[in-house]
Amino acid sequence: MGREFSTVGVVGLGTMGAGIVEVFARNGIDVVAVEISAPALERGRATLKGSTDRAVAKGKLAEADRDALHERVHFAVGLDALHSVDLVIEAVPEHLDLKQRIFAELDRVCRPETILATNTSSLSVTEISVATSRPNQVIGIHFFNPAPVMKLVEVVRTVVTAPEVVADVEALCARLGKVDVTINDRAGFIANALLFGYLNHAVGMFESHYATREDIDAAMKLGCGLPMGPLALMDLIGLDTAYEILDTMYRRGGRDRRHAPVPLLKQMVTAGLLGRKSGRGFYTYERPGSPVVVPDEATPLATDGALADGARAIAKVGVVGSGTMATGIIEVFAKAGYEVVSVTRGMEKSAKVCEAVKTSLNKGVVRGKLAEADRDAALGRISWSATLDHLADVDLVVEAVVEELSVKKALFASLDEICKPGVVLATTTSSLPVIDVAMATQRPADVVGLHFFNPAPVMPLVEVVRTIRTSPEATATARAVCAALGKTGVVCGDRSGFIVNALLFPYLNDAVKMLEASYSTADDIDHAMKLGCGYPMGPFELLDVVGLDVSLAIQRELYLELREPGFAPAPLLEHLVTAGYLGRKTRRGFRDHSHR
Ligand SMILES: NC(=O)c1ccc[n+]([C@@H]2O[C@H](COP(=O)([O-])OP(=O)(O)OC[C@H]3O[C@@H](n4cnc5c(N)ncnc54)[C@H](O)[C@@H]3O)[C@@H](O)[C@H]2O)c1
Repeated sequence: MGREFSTVGVVGLGTMGAGIVEVFARNGIDVVAVEISAPALERGRATLKGSTDRAVAKGKLAEADRDALHERVHFAVGLDALHSVDLVIEAVPEHLDLKQRIFAELDRVCRPETILATNTSSLSVTEISVATSRPNQVIGIHFFNPAPVMKLVEVVRTVVTAPEVVADVEALCARLGKVDVTINDRAGFIANALLFGYLNHAVGMFESHYATREDIDAAMKLGCGLPMGPLALMDLIGLDTAYEILDTMYRRGGRDRRHAPVPLLKQMVTAGLLGRKSGRGFYTYERPGSPVVVPDEATPLATDGALADGARAIAKVGVVGSGTMATGIIEVFAKAGYEVVSVTRGMEKSAKVCEAVKTSLNKGVVRGKLAEADRDAALGRISWSATLDHLADVDLVVEAVVEELSVKKALFASLDEICKPGVVLATTTSSLPVIDVAMATQRPADVVGLHFFNPAPVMPLVEVVRTIRTSPEATATARAVCAALGKTGVVCGDRSGFIVNALLFPYLNDAVKMLEASYSTADDIDHAMKLGCGYPMGPFELLDVVGLDVSLAIQRELYLELREPGFAPAPLLEHLVTAGYLGRKTRRGFRDHSHR
């Protein structure tokens, strides 16, 4: 028989603590909720009330259940109130000395059999445990933010944590309706070890004006299906907490430069810009604690579809290429009402592309998403050609030929000779420097990257890449075209991986390194990212879908361009590719797909 937890204590009622109190009280467990001072206690009480009131308003909690929940919570200032609880969870700020002091005090106050748990994100549970006389009863119970919503709990055992304590805590997590992964005591555990390098990198992009906060966040939401962008997530976590986590991970986790907090973070924390909890971080909120973003001086002006910033009018578009991307892009432009000239390397190829576009449009009709008349009109707007000369009078060219620099450069040199002045020339490259392509022409100011995602008709994001030679008018034109296509165009600089791949692939590579180090299993890592961070797929699921060879190639490019040691491809990824395990397409990658 495992141990019964009828009363638990929670120390610190900030961003996490208040949510943890709610989780326990919702599940019928009495809670003693402790803070350092009366005002802090009131703030914690208000947070709990706000959260449960919102749940009632949304119909997720009955009023009577809310009232019963509140009756289960006893608020107190000071740790002495915890003398008879069965378990304590500490959720005070992320400082080792503070946590050690609190654990020494808890050890004195609590009954000898009480389990003492920390919600730390990055500190050593072992180091916290040795501040007590019962390290075998000390454990990490790492909830995710917001605690009442996120399903995952990381249970962290140290080398001395008693196995029955681990088992009892696992059973408790199940009672709370959570999914737990049990792991050893390592900086950042699973989820934060994979998350914080990415978050810090995103802050670095923002700090260096590589892209705006809105564009960085939109890119990751729309390009990867994440529930929120990295900067909005930093605001939710709290910039002071995020700073401490990064700093600890840097010092504990092998001094990986990617965890050295970007200088801007420290400045924001010092300036009191802590994120949602202080009402301002990367974004500005209605009031402290509110999730509602309000416009501020950095908010872009809404253009309501009008041609902003000297954007040029585009009516006729040339698309060069006959592959998956070109086919999708032709469809997207034709459906949005543009005249499209498709150019391939021969009429046979054109016929194939034409068939593919028809098939895709027909699917839209069958699914009731496209009227037959609209399908016919879209097809009627496309002309098929095998010579670039037909691009003499288009307003925009989108190149989507093979990913080889020499081929693209030769093509752009020809376009330069054929196209009229003022035309915007766009490349869909996902890995080559756009400036190389631009310099193959005499008009680099008119050259941009338009990085569509696959499948182009479905994916809502386009990265608009501006080189150091691209004119503001060409950038504005590209962005306006994306809006007219019903897509979100995010503008970024001309660096390897643009926004999405530069932020996504190092994270995937880190997951492979974690697996390689035998810290956890592919299943647990996938679980952690899905249930702890709300990702639509875990890293290994995604790697198998994208293809391990493609992922390795992108990671190599990033490593070569940015020379960041932490970006070096994981040896395991290289070995799997060498072995021909490329993911779903070869029926075997990180997982065996032969029976599915
Ligand atoms: N913010 C997140 O997204 C997140 C997620 C998971 C885990 N964590 C971890 O949870 C812990 C708390 O982080 P947070 O973001 O909730 O911090 P926070 O700053 O929002 O809240 C900390 C609270 O602790 C209180 N406190 C300080 N000293 C105290 C004391 N001596 N006794 C009682 N209460 C005291 C403060 O008054 C404050 O209300 C940290 O270890 C953090 O790493 C945070």
